[in-house]
Amino acid sequence: MSAGDAERELGEMNRVAELGGGKDRIDEQHRKGKLTARERIDLLFDPGTFNELDKFVTHRSTDLGMDRSKPLGDGVVTGYGRIDGRLAYVYSHDFTVFGGSLGEALMKKITKVMDLALKNGAPIIGLNDSGGARIQEGVLSLAGVSEMFFRNTLASGVIPQISAVLGPSAGAAAYSPALTDFVFMVKGIGQMFVTGPEVVKAALGETVTSEELGGAAVHSAQSGVAHFVSESEKECFSSIKRLLSFLPQNSSELPPAVTTPNEAAKEDPEMNALAPSEPYKTYDMRTIILRLVDDQDLLEVHAAWAQSVIVGFARLAGSTVGIVANQPACLSGALDVDSSDKAARFVRFCDAFNIPILTLVDVPGYIPGTDQEHRGLIRHGAKLLYAYSEATVPKVTVVVKRAYGGAYCAMGSKYSKADICYAWPGAEIAVMGPEGAISIIYRKEIEASADPDATRKRLAAEYRKKFANPYVAAGRGIIDEVISPTSTRPKLVAAFGSLKSKSEFRPAKKHGNIQL
Ligand code: HXC
Repeated sequence: MSAGDAERELGEMNRVAELGGGKDRIDEQHRKGKLTARERIDLLFDPGTFNELDKFVTHRSTDLGMDRSKPLGDGVVTGYGRIDGRLAYVYSHDFTVFGGSLGEALMKKITKVMDLALKNGAPIIGLNDSGGARIQEGVLSLAGVSEMFFRNTLASGVIPQISAVLGPSAGAAAYSPALTDFVFMVKGIGQMFVTGPEVVKAALGETVTSEELGGAAVHSAQSGVAHFVSESEKECFSSIKRLLSFLPQNSSELPPAVTTPNEAAKEDPEMNALAPSEPYKTYDMRTIILRLVDDQDLLEVHAAWAQSVIVGFARLAGSTVGIVANQPACLSGALDVDSSDKAARFVRFCDAFNIPILTLVDVPGYIPGTDQEHRGLIRHGAKLLYAYSEATVPKVTVVVKRAYGGAYCAMGSKYSKADICYAWPGAEIAVMGPEGAISIIYRKEIEASADPDATRKRLAAEYRKKFANPYVAAGRGIIDEVISPTSTRPKLVAAFGSLKSKSEFRPAKKHGNIQL
């Protein structure tokens, strides 16, 4: 074969491979409002940097008519390239080929690229659009997806793993994202479920749409499976890039520092107006966070789920910090089952990837009552205690207003080994709030008094004066410094700056046993 013929053959092979399931199915993909696997990669990677692997791999299945169709690439595009100049690996399901279903050969492609990402210490991004394990390939398909789950687990805490759900992601195509660090979903087209609507109908007689079963609204607000929701695929890829900009390439590196204008040491007189003056006043903690961080830029994670806690990434004087903050605008900032899970998982991610943690506390306690207790508030709340205690990254805590009881202990307190703990002058740190406390310790006195309301008020005021302030804690060194709200940003910049070379160790062990 002449060089020209060989070149033409390669060109034809590439052309066929790039058509995936063919033009009609590509048109159908577009009609459903979805991009193709390759269009997605083009939007995600820096132009001209993507290198494809295994483009000509085909499946070897012969059952159920599979031998009549052997599309080149077998339903996934894999490879590596640059995102904002930094190396990243990708696999992108091609729904036009057997519905992106996960067969033996396809899974070998995915696990190969995962291995490369892990060996080279770079993030891996999965673009999911798949009917799950390929039914025609039976146990070989299950073996393949299980190899992927294994690698998701190996890579956990070593390289950032990011999933975008851009179509149906059923069965195995839902479990793999669930094993990764962050799940992005696009409204209207992304759905995740263990079994699809047809199976639900057959098994339970229940009629449900894909969207009702596992659309972006369900997973971002109810189940907590999804961390980010986007209006379009384009917006989703921009959000992935933004997230990556806060993260290191792997757990041996520090997050990239960004140069910012030198405003680090500035006091902020406006902060006094934002400081909460009354203990049960509703306000949005976001307004405080935005004034503290560089460029008022906060990338909130799980923004629509478990909203009594805010978690997200921001920068202080150019360096990434993970922020965990109570949100008094929701459930008065109290911790519950879901917000404990949300904060604990975020703290563990930050600790795994060398991201210092800033905690802002205004918490009245855990939500009381049978609903939360019966859902396992003790077990879930314990995760947060565990996560903070386990974390050895720099930890700085600011008690903004209330820090009561077990929730005080859980929210990055001195006892979970926060390095520096600040409190604002209006902070209240005690076993419980005045109203709850006096109704327990003065129950008999209140009942016996001629005017129980007046007695309760008087006792609450006395309690607040004695216990509900930061000075008892500051007097014992439990709070390192009571600081003015106006000086908080420079104090934080100085504190995190002083902790840059922190090293702290925990006992060597195979792994701990967090309360899952
Ligand atoms: C083989 C599949 C497939 C699968 C879809 N297809 N899912 N082929 N294995 N798992 C094929 C369809 O037969 C069809 O082929 C093409 O992909 C497009 O599918 P449609 O149904 O026409 O598309 P749509 O209407 O958009 O519906 C997409 C869907 C639906 C919601 C994903 O296909 C579906 O419900 N699939 C099954 C989902 C599921 O229950 N998966 C769980 C697998 S078990 P043709 O040639 O007709 O166009 C699993 C094990 C998990 O994953 C293990 C975890 C531990």
